[in-house]
Amino acid sequence: MPLIDLSISNPTKVGISLPDPFAFSSLRGSNYEPRANGALELREEICRYYATEFNSVLHADRILITTSTSEAYSYCFKLIADPGASVLLPQPSYPLLQFLVEAEGLQPKSYAMHEACGQWILDRENLIATCDSSTRAIILVHPNNPTGHFLTNEDLHWLLEFSRDKYWLICDEVFADYVWSQQPGQIRSLSQIPAENVFCLSGISKICALPQMKLGWIAMPPASAVHRALDLVADTYLSVSSPIQAAASQWLSNRTSFQAPIRSRCMENLQWIQDSIQGSAWSLLPVEAGWAAILQGPSTIDEEQQVLTLLKKGFSVHPGFYYDLPFQPSFVLSLLTPPADFRAGISAIIAS
Ligand SMILES: Cc1ncc(COP(=O)(O)O)c(C=O)c1O
Repeated sequence: MPLIDLSISNPTKVGISLPDPFAFSSLRGSNYEPRANGALELREEICRYYATEFNSVLHADRILITTSTSEAYSYCFKLIADPGASVLLPQPSYPLLQFLVEAEGLQPKSYAMHEACGQWILDRENLIATCDSSTRAIILVHPNNPTGHFLTNEDLHWLLEFSRDKYWLICDEVFADYVWSQQPGQIRSLSQIPAENVFCLSGISKICALPQMKLGWIAMPPASAVHRALDLVADTYLSVSSPIQAAASQWLSNRTSFQAPIRSRCMENLQWIQDSIQGSAWSLLPVEAGWAAILQGPSTIDEEQQVLTLLKKGFSVHPGFYYDLPFQPSFVLSLLTPPADFRAGISAIIAS
């Protein structure tokens, strides 16, 4: 019997009927006109995205196109740090970050976030203590994956003040469009705040649920010296395909068509967990945004043992320790999971 994967986050493999991307744009581009920072039409569309979604005014010169958000990270690292330097990563967060940092010959160091009454707070003292003379950058995943929280405006302002003139801030905002609940006035993108040291990263793998098209970008700080230096990094590879760049403007401007079925799947599954844990010893951490949910169990349950038991029952689920979650037992579930699988999985988890 095939395993039911409760952690599946590939939107093309979860039975969601997504629009055909080629109904919006066919792939065209028989000419090759390489541009290090990417096609102007697409960079202008990305600026319109920031203006519409976050009220942020960016000029197309501040956008640099990459083949993915992951590549965007690597370009930033090449620019800002020499091998051996350290980069601070949020804990808990997306496990790939460590590998992206190490792949550039840099040292990952973690800074902590704590959860209290459903709210995640930056441990400022821990972050200050983790910085040293080797530190070049601090990564922020906003909203975070898998906790689904936005850093509070207070913590964001503190972080901006703390890092100014000392460290680069790299803010991964790939899930910023998928908001389920948020504090009034929440800053959803660091592009909303003028700063000289911030790179905002995103891409269409989440915004348009098109991971197969391989397209991301960096919204760079205003200084033209930074643009020139990153242009040189990108010019060394010229990795983004021209036809994809031409089509991506259309996909991005039609993002709501791609997002609508993803939103309804996530909301349906979220509602299902909220209803099914009522009166049980399990709790759901508040999910402000994103495609994941964290279920916290009673302390009598051993996290690893529970994952092994679930495997025997035919379900695969991510234990919280994969993401360095600071409490056990906890399980990370993908809100994209097909509803029937999701319901069966939740029942199996909470029945134990
Ligand atoms: C927080 C976060 N950033 C970046 C990525 C990777 O994005 P891309 O497909 O654009 O490389 C993911 C993928 O799941 C993610 O969860």
